[in-house]
Amino acid sequence: MKKITLDRMLQSQGFGSRKYCRQLIAEGELSIDGQVVTDYKQEVDLSDLHFRLFDEEWLYREHIYIALNKPSGIECSRKPSNHPGVMTLLPEQFSWRDVQAIGRLDHDTTGLLLLSDDGAFNHAMSSPKRHVPKLYLANTAEPVTQELIDSLLKGVQLHDEPHPLAAVSCVARGEQQIEIVVEQGKYHQVKRMLAAAGNHCQALERIAIGRLTLEALELNEGEWCYLQASDLEFL
Ligand code: URA
Repeated sequence: MKKITLDRMLQSQGFGSRKYCRQLIAEGELSIDGQVVTDYKQEVDLSDLHFRLFDEEWLYREHIYIALNKPSGIECSRKPSNHPGVMTLLPEQFSWRDVQAIGRLDHDTTGLLLLSDDGAFNHAMSSPKRHVPKLYLANTAEPVTQELIDSLLKGVQLHDEPHPLAAVSCVARGEQQIEIVVEQGKYHQVKRMLAAAGNHCQALERIAIGRLTLEALELNEGEWCYLQASDLEFL
């Protein structure tokens, strides 16, 4: 049963500096079990702690794990330069908690993006040793041919890579559309693989990471949700 003071608890959840959290508490913004609490030194048990702040219900979370259906025109980098950053789509306190995208999608790629403030999880998920399959739907400029699919499956040589990169699976989904699974997360990987195989990617959507699918999460573009422990097992 872990207990910490109310100001520390609010700060850990990304609601601002300790000083600011103390001010919020003193102003009567925080309530627990329907009671306004104004003494920041009061200790609370963190297990299954629900609290109300700014008239919204929150659950204390040691770490947060999020899935976002990323729209086009959004950058994943921490310091976006040409487009709005992904954090603009999430509550402000997630930035205070240092939530970061796990692997990046290009600004014009849409679909499933995971984010977390758990450094160890982010590191493990991004490790090349982990081989997490990522499923993409790619629209191509030229018709999809068997030859294209065969070369993607066999492996294509990208300029700055020591070895050819091969898709784990690749199937035609339409005259100008493929579903492709890759395990690595190289820069512009799918687009570069398609170009190296003699076609061109016109639109790209990530529809699954491991067994976690965008469809099951039922997220519209721009929407996000917390991932449950059962979702994390799919990764
Ligand atoms: N491959 C790409 O080319 N772009 C992405 O955003 C993701 C995978």
